[in-house]
Amino acid sequence: MLGNAPEFQALLRAMRIVSATDVTVLVTGESGTGKELLAQALHENSRRRDKPFITVNCAALPSQLAETELFVHCKGAFTGASSESIGKVKAANGGTLFLDEIGELPVAVQAKLLRFLETGECQTVGRPSSQRVDVRVIAATNRDLSQSINDGSFRRDLYYRLHVVPLELPPLRQRPGDVNLLLKGLTTELASTYNLRPPIYSKMVLNSLNNYQWPGNVRELKNFSERMLILFSGRNVEIENLPHEFRNHRVSSQSGQFVLPEQGLSMDELEASLIEQALGKTFGNRSKAARLLGLTRDTLLYRMKKYAIEC
Ligand SMILES: Nc1ncnc2c1ncn2[C@@H]1O[C@H](COP(=O)(O)OP(=O)(O)OP(=O)(O)O)[C@@H](O)[C@H]1O
Ligand SMILES: [Mg+2]
Repeated sequence: MLGNAPEFQALLRAMRIVSATDVTVLVTGESGTGKELLAQALHENSRRRDKPFITVNCAALPSQLAETELFVHCKGAFTGASSESIGKVKAANGGTLFLDEIGELPVAVQAKLLRFLETGECQTVGRPSSQRVDVRVIAATNRDLSQSINDGSFRRDLYYRLHVVPLELPPLRQRPGDVNLLLKGLTTELASTYNLRPPIYSKMVLNSLNNYQWPGNVRELKNFSERMLILFSGRNVEIENLPHEFRNHRVSSQSGQFVLPEQGLSMDELEASLIEQALGKTFGNRSKAARLLGLTRDTLLYRMKKYAIEC
């Protein structure tokens, strides 16, 4: 997984530590931050890497079939179940079961899942006794599950059972330096897939991409890289070539005064972004950048260190 930002590196370290165990992991983070990729990386780093990695998309499980899909191991016992049906839990035996979008799991099935997590046993239809299954469970969600607990759509006991080790993926806008790194890495990867030459991004463009909020996170950046690769292969990309959402991203200002956006902002992000812009404008000249920001050079250096900004 690409990423150098300190918070992201800390997350990878935690992932490597837990991958050596069988502990249940709950991966959280906004959409597109890489939850599924992290779950796969965890599996690949674990002793289970040669065994199945089975994904269950809980949001796509119809309520009536959810239990069958997850737990039932039988041949055509239910109408609607395929004749070769083998429950996903059983299919993951020896490997990893990835419960994606766990926040969407129907409440009735949550009770069954909890029972399975606590006993490690799974009922087989047509057989009186339950069977032990050896799976490592990773769950992921972009929902705030504590909110779901409050509104009654998620069981508190299941939450605690899953929340043994939480791994939270930071949003891309909070990963200083990673926009450029990911843009480069993803472009190289896509360029070789498409057999195209990468576009050449101007310094101003890179700055603008750095200051953009990336609400769709890495997925949005990957789609952007792909679009630009196809449209500008081997050519220069200037500000005016960017889609409008990138060009219009500015701190709103009115009569020379900064205006706090309706949705508020993070002072830390704003400060880091202004420092990056100043460094971009001055082509990395720290003294000039400090002057642009009304800071002393030392204060600028201190703040660059604080936000892990390199140039
Ligand atoms: N650190 C990374 N390095 C390289 N590619 C990444 C990274 N993080 C995410 N991606 C890519 O971004 C895309 C989105 O990642 P992923 O599907 O894992 O996100 P997600 O958090 O599961 O999103 P959602 O909540 O919408 O399901 C994928 O194509 C993935 O390969
Ligand atoms: Mg996902």
